[in-house]
Amino acid sequence: MAKFMIAPSILSADFSRLAEEIAAITEAGADWVHVDVMDGHFVPNLTIGAPVVKSLKPVSKLPLDCHLMIEEPEKYIEDFAKAGASTITIHVEATRDAAAVLKKIRSLGSKPGLTLKPATPASAIFPYLPLVDLVLVMTVNPGFSGQSFMAEQATKIAEIRAELKRIEHTALIEVDGGITPETARQVQDADVLVAGNAVFKAGVDYREAIRRLKDAKTESLT
Ligand code: DX5
Ligand code: ZN
Repeated sequence: MAKFMIAPSILSADFSRLAEEIAAITEAGADWVHVDVMDGHFVPNLTIGAPVVKSLKPVSKLPLDCHLMIEEPEKYIEDFAKAGASTITIHVEATRDAAAVLKKIRSLGSKPGLTLKPATPASAIFPYLPLVDLVLVMTVNPGFSGQSFMAEQATKIAEIRAELKRIEHTALIEVDGGITPETARQVQDADVLVAGNAVFKAGVDYREAIRRLKDAKTESLT
């Protein structure tokens, strides 16, 4: 049976030892490294930018999955692409021309991803689905790690999956926010789980934490 892919969010890691933390999650079976970029405008928090991605690129064997929670991402995507971002995910609410930004991400050699806040309906991203390799469904209000999972957001996964099927387009669906081995059971139709606290602050070693998340996929999907 297929298992979830796991993208630990380094927002919950020890920032003074990021290279070691990435080596540890890699060894423990993580699939991607999730990098949460916040600008203090689009969300009420500040985190890290492209220079950190550039520093992590040579020390990470895993793809760097960059989630841009920033206004006007068009101003920064070239920096992230050059820094080595494998995937660059933008918020549909953050730009006036999502199609242009997604096309630019692809032209720069990164994979385009699109996400939406909990208050935004799934239909808001439908016009852009043909342009993306990844759809990120937020199950918390973006801005902070360690928040509670918003269960009602899980219905968006099926809506997006159905629309992808209707337009005959393949893209991975990733879920972000409040994921634990328990809440992960409610997002069976997703492919990739972002997990901050459930990996770095789980109270068990990273291998066990990641195994529990991967194993939360119990339904066999066709
Ligand atoms: C929230 C971020 C998430 C967050 C996940 O704005 O996008 O990636 O760090 O953290 P947990 O898994 O602890 O909710
Ligand atoms: Zn994120």
